[in-house]
Amino acid sequence: MCGIIGYVGKRNAVPVLLYGLQRLEYRGYDSAGIAVIDKNGDKIIVEKQVGKIKDLQEHLWNRKIEGHTALGHTRWATHGPPTIENAHPHTSQRETISIVHNGIIENYLELKEELIKKGYRFRSETDTEVVAHLFEELYTGDLLETALKVAKKLEGAYAIGVISTYEPDKIVGIKKGSPLIVGFGKDENFIASDIPAVLEYTKDFIVLEDGEIAVVTKDNVEVYNLEGKKLEKKPLHVTWDISVAEKAGYKHFMQKEIHEQPRTIGDTITGFSSSKDEKLFEAIKDADRLYIIACGTSYHAGLVGKFWIEKFARIPVEVDYASEYRYRDRIINNRTVVMGISQSGETADTRFALLDAKKEGAKTIGLVNVVGSSLSRETDYVMYTYCGPEIGVAATKTFTAQLVTLLLFALEAGLKKGTVSKPEYKKLYDELLHIPSKVESILNNEEGIKEIAHKYMNAQDFLFLGRNINYPIALEGALKLKEISYIHAEGYPAGEMKHGPIALIDDKLPVVCVIPQDKYYEKMFSNLQEVKARKGKVVSVATEGDTKVKELSDDVIYIPPASDVLYPILTVVPLQLLSYHIATLLGKDVDQPRNLAKTVTVE
Ligand code: G6P
Repeated sequence: MCGIIGYVGKRNAVPVLLYGLQRLEYRGYDSAGIAVIDKNGDKIIVEKQVGKIKDLQEHLWNRKIEGHTALGHTRWATHGPPTIENAHPHTSQRETISIVHNGIIENYLELKEELIKKGYRFRSETDTEVVAHLFEELYTGDLLETALKVAKKLEGAYAIGVISTYEPDKIVGIKKGSPLIVGFGKDENFIASDIPAVLEYTKDFIVLEDGEIAVVTKDNVEVYNLEGKKLEKKPLHVTWDISVAEKAGYKHFMQKEIHEQPRTIGDTITGFSSSKDEKLFEAIKDADRLYIIACGTSYHAGLVGKFWIEKFARIPVEVDYASEYRYRDRIINNRTVVMGISQSGETADTRFALLDAKKEGAKTIGLVNVVGSSLSRETDYVMYTYCGPEIGVAATKTFTAQLVTLLLFALEAGLKKGTVSKPEYKKLYDELLHIPSKVESILNNEEGIKEIAHKYMNAQDFLFLGRNINYPIALEGALKLKEISYIHAEGYPAGEMKHGPIALIDDKLPVVCVIPQDKYYEKMFSNLQEVKARKGKVVSVATEGDTKVKELSDDVIYIPPASDVLYPILTVVPLQLLSYHIATLLGKDVDQPRNLAKTVTVE
């Protein structure tokens, strides 16, 4: 999704913007641009390029642009294709105002018509350009006052950055629906879509809430609500180092993040235990139903969570895609709990579905990674994963951390309800503490997994099969592969294969069977035999020492033994590596796959 950065301060803004834009690349984009108020403050220089930040950098080479107030943007196309005209920043007719925007202005056609009638000419197909012209049309002599007027006219979700030659030492940021933070420096301040974009320069931030406007100069930051009332905002200090947003010697962020899992799983276990919110567990004690809503990988974590919550806390759980949940006639009463799972905490579908459920009387819980994100502030209770920033578009470390949190949540809820005994809890908790070293041992076999990837990299399709709690892992394995390698892949519950997907099996189809030695092993083994009988190529993820599976499979990836319920945290890891290596062997851009965005802030 689009990324915003803004700088006002003593140094030349251009390198700061380019650095920030690189940090925003992971969000997904197809073009980028900057708008800089020139040193004399009388003109806005706008430069844009289609493609990557390095294309913009090359374009700026030798152009010698200098200024101290500026905006930058990475665009993920919604209205109009990726072209230079459609790229942001957009500038008002008299070129006095420049705008960057993340989100969608839903009433832009209406506003556009009005502006055209008033003589404004549009240069792009975007919804954003109306905002630039609207600022010029409504300018009162004060940018904040104008921003209040503009915000009243806009419908939809947006984060907007504004600069103007009328007030050349100022940036105005408006937030409604899409994320926007303000970073505090010394003799300089920033706005950005997220923290990593400016983490090089500061660790102190304000996270803007919906309906807030920030007025930022080099020495001062003021925040107002949409009525123009000045607000007191408490800054947030982050403790992460910039190194968490660097590749640390790995080829890609995705590979680095896969390898971080022993640490992030460990941190999440500790984090959960040390910051348990007792009120949350009191609140869910009487729950008669729990809905889990999420998108993408987070949805798969929810599907695994259902098994744990139903088993340990004995609460009926329904898991739904947020975009579907939002528009169905759900049943909510005062004993309904709705949990939204979201790495970013900004996914529009998940946020809005949760807000609707909250309005209807449900208690809401957020399970998020990004501290201070919208979802974390909008829900009644919040649980965090402790992963630091995840930059690779395909979620990996946050998935396993979501699993750990859901398991601990289920156990804790079960303990409070009396459906889990203390020794049972302790036994699983102690075993959980060994999961990081088990994940480490899977990662040590990366070369072996890469060889398997090499063998199957040219397949046209893949089928992933699993049963029970490992069925969502089959779904996640298929999602990872299609996201980054563009190979068609389907995940299926193995028992359901005979009702359809079995027709796909021939000697060219790789079938990945998730078959740990758990309660469903024999059933899964029968499914594996069914695949083999039809000459499918079987790649198994099996428990160490399982020679029976080895004999029947074309390839095996072993994982260490564990209790049945803990297997998903292990079985997913080889599938992440398998997808990663297939995609890199095919030469794909794994950190920024085509058409995908890390944080999807539009519906
Ligand atoms: C996008 C990303 C996925 C992610 C999904 C949900 O589609 O490409 O990797 O799983 O959003 O994101 P969230 O931040 O809500 O977990």
